[in-house]
Amino acid sequence: MTTRLHVGGASPYDVLVGHDLLGGLLDGLPGMLGEGAQRVAVIHPVAMAARATALRDSLLERGYDAHALEVPDGEGAKDVAVAAFCWDVLGRAGFTRSDAVVTLGGGATTDLGGFVAATWLRGVRVVHVPTTLLAMVDAAVGGKTGINTAAGKNLVGSFHEPAGVVCDLDTLETLPRNELISGLAEVVKCGFIADPRILELVEADPDGARTPGSAVLRELVERAIQVKIDVVVDDLTETGGRDGHPGREALNYGHTLGHAVERLESYRFRHGAAVALGMRYVAELARLTGRLDDETADRHTRVLELVGLPTTYRGGVWEELHAAMKVDKKSRGSTLRFVVLDGLARPGVLAGPDEAVLQTAYDVLVEHP
Ligand code: GLY
Repeated sequence: MTTRLHVGGASPYDVLVGHDLLGGLLDGLPGMLGEGAQRVAVIHPVAMAARATALRDSLLERGYDAHALEVPDGEGAKDVAVAAFCWDVLGRAGFTRSDAVVTLGGGATTDLGGFVAATWLRGVRVVHVPTTLLAMVDAAVGGKTGINTAAGKNLVGSFHEPAGVVCDLDTLETLPRNELISGLAEVVKCGFIADPRILELVEADPDGARTPGSAVLRELVERAIQVKIDVVVDDLTETGGRDGHPGREALNYGHTLGHAVERLESYRFRHGAAVALGMRYVAELARLTGRLDDETADRHTRVLELVGLPTTYRGGVWEELHAAMKVDKKSRGSTLRFVVLDGLARPGVLAGPDEAVLQTAYDVLVEHP
């Protein structure tokens, strides 16, 4: 059975979640690509070449002028030279406004492919087919697209909502275990900021949460996507939420320190593992500033460890982490901003905290031999 989650707003679309969807993709795809589409570009990383070629061939059989565009695996895809390669292919194939892009891959492919679709002729349709847990619950929904520059990650991009998202849970079967666990950090994040049932499900069955094909993982994916949908429908462009809610910024829970760790580790640290450290860090910040109760703060460590995510980090690098956080694009001006909790599922913003508090919260994370 396929679950259909609807994303409302100015450009509504559906997110499909289920099994064996790639097999039946061609049945639903024409509706998402739009009636006028004649040319389709399937943008995919090297690792997805076989699946992308099969999809391209099926599209050709159905009469589309289909092209498979292979891009580097991982963050290497989010480069202006790779975007330029894609624009070049679209140009030579004569892509018009009514033609479309399909992305088949993880978050980097989604970000790049979305950016190419957003910029070609000022915007053509894009359908995302995420193949990692991280991309399903985060990158594919909400329309953020972008590439990296020498100055940092995601500094060039735009909001360009997809025409549809297809999450085939079967693709998680071949995902390396560490990648799956990394994706669970974003799922747990959704539990803390909006849907505590997610935390209960993980606590009740942590092994199931890490098992592709399990009913609990499917429920976790669907719940996390619903959290993301609710947030982006309220505040697509991250300009702010209502009634004191930080809006889309809430999705950055754990990401301020997380991005600093990724930067310090030259992006060889898994995103989810870095975000896990960042979530424990902001839980400590919120506890230290009297905003979060001990039980909820401690729950961060417990839940993250249950799924195999890290909660401690090496010592002696606070100055570097602090400096990296200051250049993070999410800090406004020179003021550091953190999404914190004022209670379970009650996100808020902590702006410009005391330097001593910042360091004390980090000291809690430092691993002791
Ligand atoms: N990845 C956070 C967001 O989509 O806003």
